[in-house]
Amino acid sequence: MTSPGRPVDAVFFDLFGTLLSLRPLDDACDRLAPGRGAEIAARWRARQLEASWLRTAMDRWADFDAVTVDTLRAVLDELGIATDDDLSALADAFRDLPLVAGAADAVTSLTEAGLATGVLSNASTATLARVAARLAVGFDHWLSVDAARRYKPHPSVYQLAVDATGLPAERIGFVTANGWDAAGGAAFGFRVAWLRPGPSGTVPPVGVPEPTIATWPEIPRMFTS
Ligand code: LAC
Repeated sequence: MTSPGRPVDAVFFDLFGTLLSLRPLDDACDRLAPGRGAEIAARWRARQLEASWLRTAMDRWADFDAVTVDTLRAVLDELGIATDDDLSALADAFRDLPLVAGAADAVTSLTEAGLATGVLSNASTATLARVAARLAVGFDHWLSVDAARRYKPHPSVYQLAVDATGLPAERIGFVTANGWDAAGGAAFGFRVAWLRPGPSGTVPPVGVPEPTIATWPEIPRMFTS
């Protein structure tokens, strides 16, 4: 339901690197090659996203769990790290990542103000179900790209939030720490809050309006007044 007194009627959140901290991946990867965990984790994340974009551009769908394991294997090959570890088990670290500070309070404030809230993520349906069961945050929607069989920033993914809420894109807020995801949401027409991850964070120059830079405590006010 739209309400003219506020800027949007629903707010969706990116999951990995936004609601959930990626920091524990460093330790998980450190077990593969002691002292090199942060390097492996950073390269893994970059390759994971790159593969998701390539699969979307090439129309070669595989879900994010598969992409995550495949790219970990590729990164270990690339870095010359041999391991007998079960890489699927290690990739499960993505399912157990902790909620970042400030996220739960922001979502609660939005809910109390009468807005719908949701997660809109590259994560598979199975992974989202695991995360939903673990986190004590009452989102109204948990949307996986599985339904679109494409990855962000393809517009068909952001469209899932429109379809789930029945709201036009401009009545939907979107919160992400990923600059390229902020660009994708802005291009689609969402009102975007970019949780800029420090001065080195950038939004790619792809001809979209600059998203609003915000912090977690600023999120409720940005979307309710
Ligand atoms: C997600 C990606 C951006 O959670 O990590 O959708």
